[in-house]
Amino acid sequence: MIALCGKGGVGKTSVSAVIVRTLCQSCPGKRILAIDGDPSVGLATALGVSEKGTINDIREDFIRLADQRKDAEAIEMLHEARDRIFDSLVETDAFSFLAIGRPESAGCYCSVNDYLRDLITIVADHFDYVVIDGEAGIEQINRRVMEKVNHLVFVSDASRKGLDVIRTIDTVAKELVVYDKAGVILNRLHDPKVAENLDLGGLELLAAIGEDPLVQSYDIEGKSLLTLPDDTPLCQGVRAALQKMEIIA
Ligand SMILES: Nc1ncnc2c1ncn2[C@@H]1O[C@H](COP(=O)(O)OP(=O)(O)O)[C@@H](O)[C@H]1O
Ligand SMILES: [Mg+2]
Repeated sequence: MIALCGKGGVGKTSVSAVIVRTLCQSCPGKRILAIDGDPSVGLATALGVSEKGTINDIREDFIRLADQRKDAEAIEMLHEARDRIFDSLVETDAFSFLAIGRPESAGCYCSVNDYLRDLITIVADHFDYVVIDGEAGIEQINRRVMEKVNHLVFVSDASRKGLDVIRTIDTVAKELVVYDKAGVILNRLHDPKVAENLDLGGLELLAAIGEDPLVQSYDIEGKSLLTLPDDTPLCQGVRAALQKMEIIA
């Protein structure tokens, strides 16, 4: 289970998509699940799939019934939630995709959220690799998506703000013990050499990726990153990071 987090716009979604792609290439026959945990979405486009439904749709339906005091129907719905989550999975030959959707509505529905999180964990158990394109903060990953991940990958550009976000999330993540191993992918560096002088707060540097002109043009055209050539900086950097994490050989 690999989760990505970091400030907005640093490349989490792009890196997540290329991680999925690299796992598909390097681990044939393994079951791979990509989870879009960011309400601002984007992973579906980067992976060239269309969303079927989100976990939040299920939650909203339940809340609507509960608010209307249709208790029996609401309970029935929760019983069906597991099947609905499996129905929401988009399956391709190479990987599956699941979207979490928008954050919870106002009000406390913690028990519903906990229940859905347990169901996501049950779904994830059917896969060999799970890649989560997270929101900016680890609290969300912990609260909404997963109890614990194996690899937490922080993504940042060279900006002070990007690195501050990483250090803050890392402090929280350590307290909550949400990961086994963590590391940093620096992305969109104008000069990869600047990586040497950045303060990563003691975290391991997994890869330093430069500005990749092809990624930009794919983004503008809304093209899937699955078709990016292998020798581009993003693909090479992600491969190096997965090797450093000993996820692939
Ligand atoms: N290495 C890179 N080189 C050039 N552009 C990049 C690179 N990585 C990401 N981008 C671009 O940066 C923007 C933000 O990337 P995205 O993956 O959506 O970030 P996040 O998910 O962290 O918000 C997108 O337009 C994307 O195409
Ligand atoms: Mg994103």
